[in-house]
Amino acid sequence: MLRVIIAENLVKEFSRPRRAVGRFAGVRSFFSTDRVVSRAVDDVSLRIDDGEIVGYLGPNGAGKSTTIKMLTGILVPTSGHVEVEGIVPWKDRRANARNIGAVFGQRSQLWTDLPLRESLELIAKLYGLSPEDHRRSLEGFVDLLDMGPFLDTAVRSLSLGQRMRGDIVAAMLYRPPVLYLDEPTVGLDVVAKARIRDFIAEQNRTEGTTVLLTTHDIADIEQLARRVVIIDEGRILYDGGLDALRVRYAPFREIVVSASEIPESISLEGLELTRLVPAGDELRGTFRFDPAVLPAPAAIGRLTGALEITDLSSREPSVEDVIHRIYTDRGVAP
Ligand SMILES: Nc1ncnc2c1ncn2[C@@H]1O[C@H](COP(=O)(O)OP(=O)(O)O)[C@@H](O)[C@H]1O
Ligand SMILES: [Mg+2]
Repeated sequence: MLRVIIAENLVKEFSRPRRAVGRFAGVRSFFSTDRVVSRAVDDVSLRIDDGEIVGYLGPNGAGKSTTIKMLTGILVPTSGHVEVEGIVPWKDRRANARNIGAVFGQRSQLWTDLPLRESLELIAKLYGLSPEDHRRSLEGFVDLLDMGPFLDTAVRSLSLGQRMRGDIVAAMLYRPPVLYLDEPTVGLDVVAKARIRDFIAEQNRTEGTTVLLTTHDIADIEQLARRVVIIDEGRILYDGGLDALRVRYAPFREIVVSASEIPESISLEGLELTRLVPAGDELRGTFRFDPAVLPAPAAIGRLTGALEITDLSSREPSVEDVIHRIYTDRGVAP
């Protein structure tokens, strides 16, 4: 497999004047050479192969956007090495720009006063697409993302979901092999999110687009990525498959049972009652167990032996649970 994105020991430090307090604070900080340095990205190494979709997760302020900005060439690393499609992004920004598309959910790259169609035309011209190529590219995207109804609306008047579709098309119009998506579904409703996920999956499948995606919505990850990289305080905590993540951080499964009677103090070896709620005229209890210690059939046997069960289902911890556990173990709020 061809490595498309290589980041080695990436560091980004930001420095700002130390805030002085007191009457002449403003004057002091203006002249002061006293600066506070903070490390937003601290020794991040990543290798992403051609055609992978990687979810990049972490709490607010973890360093996700800063990493992506270094990969796109917007920011120059303090130290470390980046190579994308064989190019050092910040050294050769022009060549790099053709290879990558980038969408920052919080900020649009479209001209707000122009109708979406014209804004996209300008981008096509900037990237040297022939009118014929542009027309063909655009037609496909408009179909896939159902953009016909608002193509002639000024970008400023678009809904957030429409604007995001426009931004994604702007990033993909010249068919770059690499796509960075920084919170592309933030603030969108369920339908708009689904549309964008489908589109990303489709581009990856048909064009082999390599995607690095940050999001707070675990459903984005579950639907799109098999691999996740988790970062906190600028450092990578985990890089690997979603399934392996479960095994490592949440090696338990859960069985939810309904019964007319579940004593709160019930004690069953290898099973922990983690939740007990009323459900109609019954109770519903969630029991947690480690399948490596107590195999699922034995766990079910113990439960049916002790309780008059009317319904039973088993589930794996959700990725949401797992991520939450990682953050809480580290003492950070998700
Ligand atoms: N331009 C900047 N100047 C100073 N500090 C910054 C700048 N950009 C980001 N930071 C700081 O770097 C850290 C990481 O930010 P960011 O990469 O935006 O996190 P995330 O995208 O994971 O929420 C934060 O503490 C943030 O305040
Ligand atoms: Mg961010």
